[in-house]
Amino acid sequence: MALTSAVAVPEVLERCRALVRPALRDAVGRLHPWVGEMAAYSFGWCEVGGSPAVAPGGKGVRQALAVLGAEAAGAPGRDGVPAAVAVELVHTFSLLHDDIMDGDAARRRRPTVWKAYGTGPAVLAGDALFALAVETLAVPPAGPGALRLLSAALGDLVCGQADDLLFAGRPWTGRRRVRPEEYRAMAEHKTGALLGCAAALGALLGGAPPATAAALDRAGRHLGVAFQVVDDVLGIWGDPAVTGKPVHSDLRERKKTFPVLAALDSPSPAAGRLAELLEADGEPGAVAALIDQAGGRAAALAEARRHLTAVDAALLDVPLAAGPAEELRSLLDFLPRRDL
Ligand code: IPE
Ligand code: IPE
Ligand code: MG
Ligand code: MG
Repeated sequence: MALTSAVAVPEVLERCRALVRPALRDAVGRLHPWVGEMAAYSFGWCEVGGSPAVAPGGKGVRQALAVLGAEAAGAPGRDGVPAAVAVELVHTFSLLHDDIMDGDAARRRRPTVWKAYGTGPAVLAGDALFALAVETLAVPPAGPGALRLLSAALGDLVCGQADDLLFAGRPWTGRRRVRPEEYRAMAEHKTGALLGCAAALGALLGGAPPATAAALDRAGRHLGVAFQVVDDVLGIWGDPAVTGKPVHSDLRERKKTFPVLAALDSPSPAAGRLAELLEADGEPGAVAALIDQAGGRAAALAEARRHLTAVDAALLDVPLAAGPAEELRSLLDFLPRRDL
């Protein structure tokens, strides 16, 4: 099933998905059959029980970055495939565990793995995907350098997820409120680190010099903050039938998403009313309307655009092959406008 978006999804995502799919299926095929089924369900390849799927799976942004990283270094895209497989496995592992942590019941337009199979099995499937990613990079043509990049990104991802959970327990206002710079660090860690790692790993396997891999990592980290801010926007105003994820769950969980923080920080009179409503655990629809009135949605989109400008600057720092660099830019153009 194709992704159903009102915004044109760049062709590069499908091209990279088709290039990576055989190796990803091969890797998942090495798992214990039950664990492999949970992974295949998550990728949208099968239903619970193993019958063929009618689900769209994920967008495949990280695998595309890995392939484009290799191509931007002047290598064929297939050189980036082990990196693409590893980052897509890690991403899916992080989603399986994230949905348990966030208590979310839907993803990729179907029940989350913990809802469909149980929490214990979903934890195990996540662990298995993580191990499979390590195994994928432990052998040539990858190796210790690639594993170091991946484990550094994983360390950052864990720090970001830890802050995300801790921030939910902090007050909306006052001395202990979450500041925008704390949000940025959290988003760079939980989302940007893996996006940066994807592009850098692809470049490494494509034979890029360290400066190119470092520039792509920087670009990916800024892209991650932009991506997360847009994810926050979709979590408040998105259409669950398109995003495939619940709406308002971040508000119910008291997550410190960027639109809320920006709205609370604004001089608008709506900001005070918003703070009161949040303290009273007000109805999410009314909270969302006040966030918008206080300028939270507009501020979030401006924040995303600022980070995309930083992505562009990082990409200009190093020589990249023209075609893949253009495809990277088409992806950058799509991500802040996406509706899924
Ligand atoms: C969701 O990532 C988690 C975040 C980091 C915001 P994606 O939006 O890339 O999820 P899929 O893979 O397309 O489902
Ligand atoms: C995204 O977390 C980051 C990771 C999964 C590591 P979120 O909780 O913000 O993302 P969604 O909205 O559930 O996809
Ligand atoms: Mg979540
Ligand atoms: Mg989360």
